[in-house]
Amino acid sequence: MDTNIVWHNYAVNKTHRSEQKGHRPVILWFTGYSGSGKSTVANALESALQQLGAHTYLLDGDNVRHGLCKDLGFSDADRVENIRRVGELSKLMVDAGLIVLTAFISPFQAERDMVRNLVEDAEFIEVYLDTPLEVCEQRDPKGLYKKARAGEIKHFTGIDSDYEPPQNPEIRINTGENSLDQSVQQLVAYLQQREIIH
Ligand code: PPS
Repeated sequence: MDTNIVWHNYAVNKTHRSEQKGHRPVILWFTGYSGSGKSTVANALESALQQLGAHTYLLDGDNVRHGLCKDLGFSDADRVENIRRVGELSKLMVDAGLIVLTAFISPFQAERDMVRNLVEDAEFIEVYLDTPLEVCEQRDPKGLYKKARAGEIKHFTGIDSDYEPPQNPEIRINTGENSLDQSVQQLVAYLQQREIIH
Protein backbone atom coordinates (compact mmCIF):
# COMPACT_ATOMS: atom_id res chain seq x y z
CA MET A 1 0.00 0.00 0.00
CA ASP A 2 1.16 3.54 -0.79
CA THR A 3 2.45 5.20 2.41
CA ASN A 4 0.69 8.47 1.47
CA ILE A 5 -2.76 6.96 1.94
CA VAL A 6 -4.40 8.11 5.19
CA TRP A 7 -7.36 6.48 6.99
CA HIS A 8 -10.48 8.69 7.47
CA ASN A 9 -12.86 8.30 10.40
CA TYR A 10 -16.53 9.01 9.67
CA ALA A 11 -19.09 10.77 11.85
CA VAL A 12 -21.48 7.84 11.42
CA ASN A 13 -19.96 4.54 12.50
CA LYS A 14 -20.81 0.85 12.85
CA THR A 15 -22.33 1.31 16.32
CA HIS A 16 -24.77 3.95 15.03
CA ARG A 17 -25.72 1.77 12.07
CA SER A 18 -26.31 -1.38 14.08
CA GLU A 19 -28.32 0.50 16.75
CA GLN A 20 -30.61 1.61 13.92
CA LYS A 21 -31.02 -1.99 12.71
CA GLY A 22 -31.74 -3.56 16.12
CA HIS A 23 -29.29 -6.44 15.72
CA ARG A 24 -25.54 -6.87 15.88
CA PRO A 25 -23.49 -7.12 12.68
CA VAL A 26 -21.77 -10.44 12.06
CA ILE A 27 -20.31 -12.68 9.36
CA LEU A 28 -21.75 -16.19 9.20
CA TRP A 29 -19.00 -17.91 7.26
CA PHE A 30 -20.26 -21.18 5.73
CA THR A 31 -17.51 -23.55 4.61
CA GLY A 32 -17.60 -27.08 3.23
CA TYR A 33 -17.31 -29.19 0.10
CA SER A 34 -19.22 -28.43 -3.09
CA GLY A 35 -22.65 -29.97 -2.55
CA SER A 36 -22.36 -29.87 1.25
CA GLY A 37 -25.38 -27.56 1.49
CA LYS A 38 -23.72 -24.17 2.03
CA SER A 39 -25.90 -22.24 -0.41
CA THR A 40 -29.09 -24.09 0.54
CA VAL A 41 -28.71 -23.58 4.29
CA ALA A 42 -27.46 -19.98 3.92
CA ASN A 43 -30.43 -19.18 1.66
CA ALA A 44 -32.98 -20.65 4.04
CA LEU A 45 -31.33 -18.94 7.02
CA GLU A 46 -31.38 -15.60 5.21
CA SER A 47 -35.14 -15.98 4.64
CA ALA A 48 -35.68 -16.81 8.32
CA LEU A 49 -33.61 -13.79 9.39
CA GLN A 50 -35.49 -11.50 7.01
CA GLN A 51 -38.75 -12.61 8.61
CA LEU A 52 -37.28 -11.68 11.98
CA GLY A 53 -36.60 -8.20 10.61
CA ALA A 54 -32.82 -8.50 10.24
CA HIS A 55 -30.88 -6.66 7.52
CA THR A 56 -28.92 -9.40 5.74
CA TYR A 57 -26.82 -10.00 2.65
CA LEU A 58 -25.81 -13.34 1.14
CA LEU A 59 -22.53 -13.66 -0.77
CA ASP A 60 -22.29 -16.91 -2.70
CA GLY A 61 -19.24 -18.34 -4.50
CA ASP A 62 -20.93 -19.05 -7.81
CA ASN A 63 -22.49 -15.55 -7.94
CA VAL A 64 -19.44 -13.59 -6.80
CA ARG A 65 -17.41 -15.41 -9.45
CA HIS A 66 -19.73 -13.84 -12.07
CA GLY A 67 -18.52 -10.34 -11.12
CA LEU A 68 -16.08 -9.27 -8.41
CA CYS A 69 -14.03 -12.47 -8.83
CA LYS A 70 -14.68 -13.36 -12.46
CA ASP A 71 -10.97 -13.17 -13.26
CA LEU A 72 -10.20 -15.99 -10.78
CA GLY A 73 -10.05 -19.74 -11.32
CA PHE A 74 -9.51 -22.63 -8.91
CA SER A 75 -5.73 -22.80 -8.42
CA ASP A 76 -4.72 -22.51 -4.75
CA ALA A 77 -3.51 -18.94 -5.37
CA ASP A 78 -6.80 -17.91 -7.00
CA ARG A 79 -8.84 -19.43 -4.17
CA VAL A 80 -6.70 -17.46 -1.67
CA GLU A 81 -7.36 -14.23 -3.61
CA ASN A 82 -11.07 -15.09 -3.90
CA ILE A 83 -11.40 -15.39 -0.13
CA ARG A 84 -9.28 -12.27 0.49
CA ARG A 85 -11.64 -10.18 -1.67
CA VAL A 86 -14.76 -11.69 -0.16
CA GLY A 87 -13.31 -11.18 3.33
CA GLU A 88 -12.69 -7.49 2.69
CA LEU A 89 -16.16 -7.09 1.18
CA SER A 90 -17.74 -8.86 4.17
CA LYS A 91 -15.84 -6.58 6.52
CA LEU A 92 -17.32 -3.53 4.77
CA MET A 93 -20.77 -5.06 5.08
CA VAL A 94 -20.22 -5.66 8.81
CA ASP A 95 -19.20 -2.00 9.06
CA ALA A 96 -22.51 -1.19 7.35
CA GLY A 97 -24.24 -3.04 10.21
CA LEU A 98 -25.42 -6.10 8.26
CA ILE A 99 -25.66 -9.79 9.04
CA VAL A 100 -23.52 -11.19 6.23
CA LEU A 101 -23.88 -14.81 5.15
CA THR A 102 -21.10 -16.18 2.95
CA ALA A 103 -21.17 -19.51 1.09
CA PHE A 104 -17.70 -20.35 -0.24
CA ILE A 105 -15.84 -23.64 -0.17
CA SER A 106 -12.97 -21.62 1.38
CA PRO A 107 -10.83 -24.75 1.63
CA PHE A 108 -7.89 -23.36 3.61
CA GLN A 109 -7.78 -22.69 7.34
CA ALA A 110 -5.29 -19.82 6.92
CA GLU A 111 -7.71 -17.79 4.75
CA ARG A 112 -10.68 -18.48 7.01
CA ASP A 113 -8.54 -17.29 9.94
CA MET A 114 -7.44 -14.28 7.91
CA VAL A 115 -11.10 -13.23 7.49
CA ARG A 116 -11.78 -13.93 11.19
CA ASN A 117 -8.94 -11.55 12.05
CA LEU A 118 -10.30 -8.80 9.79
CA VAL A 119 -13.24 -8.20 12.14
CA GLU A 120 -13.83 -8.12 15.90
CA ASP A 121 -13.88 -11.43 17.84
CA ALA A 122 -17.65 -11.54 18.20
CA GLU A 123 -18.23 -10.70 14.54
CA PHE A 124 -17.11 -13.95 12.89
CA ILE A 125 -18.95 -17.23 13.15
CA GLU A 126 -17.50 -20.18 11.26
CA VAL A 127 -20.22 -22.60 10.18
CA TYR A 128 -18.77 -25.92 9.06
CA LEU A 129 -21.03 -27.90 6.74
CA ASP A 130 -19.57 -31.21 7.83
CA THR A 131 -21.27 -33.27 5.14
CA PRO A 132 -19.05 -36.23 4.17
CA LEU A 133 -17.45 -36.06 0.73
CA GLU A 134 -19.20 -39.32 -0.29
CA VAL A 135 -22.60 -37.73 0.43
CA CYS A 136 -21.68 -34.57 -1.53
CA GLU A 137 -20.46 -36.69 -4.43
CA GLN A 138 -23.62 -38.77 -4.38
CA ARG A 139 -25.76 -35.62 -4.50
CA ASP A 140 -23.64 -34.06 -7.24
CA PRO A 141 -26.29 -31.36 -7.91
CA LYS A 142 -24.36 -29.74 -10.76
CA GLY A 143 -22.74 -32.88 -12.16
CA LEU A 144 -19.31 -31.46 -11.31
CA TYR A 145 -17.99 -34.47 -9.33
CA LYS A 146 -18.75 -36.67 -12.31
CA LYS A 147 -16.80 -34.34 -14.57
CA ALA A 148 -13.93 -34.13 -12.04
CA ARG A 149 -13.73 -37.93 -11.78
CA ALA A 150 -13.64 -38.09 -15.58
CA GLY A 151 -10.75 -35.59 -15.59
CA GLU A 152 -12.84 -32.92 -17.33
CA ILE A 153 -12.43 -30.49 -14.41
CA LYS A 154 -9.02 -30.04 -12.81
CA HIS A 155 -8.32 -28.96 -9.21
CA PHE A 156 -11.75 -30.01 -7.95
CA THR A 157 -12.07 -29.79 -4.16
CA GLY A 158 -12.01 -33.22 -2.54
CA ILE A 159 -10.88 -34.94 -5.76
CA ASP A 160 -7.57 -33.35 -6.75
CA SER A 161 -7.59 -30.20 -4.60
CA ASP A 162 -7.37 -30.05 -0.77
CA TYR A 163 -10.03 -29.19 1.79
CA GLU A 164 -8.82 -28.45 5.31
CA PRO A 165 -11.66 -29.03 7.80
CA PRO A 166 -12.12 -26.22 10.35
CA GLN A 167 -10.22 -26.77 13.62
CA ASN A 168 -12.63 -24.93 15.93
CA PRO A 169 -15.81 -23.94 14.10
CA GLU A 170 -18.46 -22.18 16.17
CA ILE A 171 -21.11 -24.39 14.53
CA ARG A 172 -20.94 -27.78 12.83
CA ILE A 173 -23.80 -29.13 10.70
CA ASN A 174 -24.06 -32.44 8.86
CA THR A 175 -26.76 -31.91 6.23
CA GLY A 176 -26.75 -35.67 5.59
CA GLU A 177 -28.23 -36.14 9.09
CA ASN A 178 -30.11 -32.86 9.74
CA SER A 179 -33.11 -31.59 7.82
CA LEU A 180 -32.92 -28.09 6.35
CA ASP A 181 -35.39 -26.88 8.99
CA GLN A 182 -33.30 -28.34 11.81
CA SER A 183 -30.16 -26.67 10.45
CA VAL A 184 -31.88 -23.29 10.22
CA GLN A 185 -33.34 -23.65 13.72
CA GLN A 186 -29.92 -24.55 15.13
CA LEU A 187 -28.43 -21.41 13.58
CA VAL A 188 -31.26 -19.07 14.64
CA ALA A 189 -31.09 -20.44 18.22
CA TYR A 190 -27.33 -19.88 18.25
CA LEU A 191 -27.71 -16.26 17.06
CA GLN A 192 -30.36 -15.62 19.72
CA GLN A 193 -28.28 -17.21 22.45
CA ARG A 194 -25.32 -14.98 21.46
CA GLU A 195 -27.74 -12.00 21.47
CA ILE A 196 -26.90 -11.13 17.87
CA ILE A 197 -30.61 -11.18 17.08
CA HIS A 198 -33.56 -11.08 19.51
S1 PPS B 1 -13.32 -21.36 -3.29
O1 PPS B 1 -12.54 -22.59 -3.17
O2 PPS B 1 -13.84 -20.90 -1.98
O3 PPS B 1 -12.56 -20.29 -3.95
O4 PPS B 1 -14.56 -21.76 -4.22
P1 PPS B 1 -15.94 -20.95 -4.42
O5 PPS B 1 -15.70 -19.53 -4.78
O6 PPS B 1 -16.83 -21.21 -3.26
O7 PPS B 1 -16.54 -21.63 -5.71
C1 PPS B 1 -17.01 -22.95 -5.64
C2 PPS B 1 -18.07 -23.21 -6.72
O8 PPS B 1 -17.47 -23.24 -8.00
C3 PPS B 1 -17.87 -24.40 -8.74
N1 PPS B 1 -16.61 -25.04 -9.18
C4 PPS B 1 -15.66 -25.62 -8.41
N2 PPS B 1 -15.58 -25.89 -7.09
C5 PPS B 1 -14.46 -26.49 -6.63
N3 PPS B 1 -13.41 -26.84 -7.40
C6 PPS B 1 -13.45 -26.59 -8.73
N4 PPS B 1 -12.41 -26.94 -9.51
C7 PPS B 1 -14.61 -25.97 -9.28
N5 PPS B 1 -14.97 -25.59 -10.55
C8 PPS B 1 -16.18 -25.02 -10.45
C9 PPS B 1 -18.74 -25.24 -7.85
O9 PPS B 1 -20.05 -25.15 -8.38
C10 PPS B 1 -18.69 -24.57 -6.48
O10 PPS B 1 -19.99 -24.29 -5.96
P2 PPS B 1 -20.61 -25.01 -4.66
O11 PPS B 1 -21.78 -24.16 -4.32
O12 PPS B 1 -19.57 -25.05 -3.59
O13 PPS B 1 -21.02 -26.36 -5.15
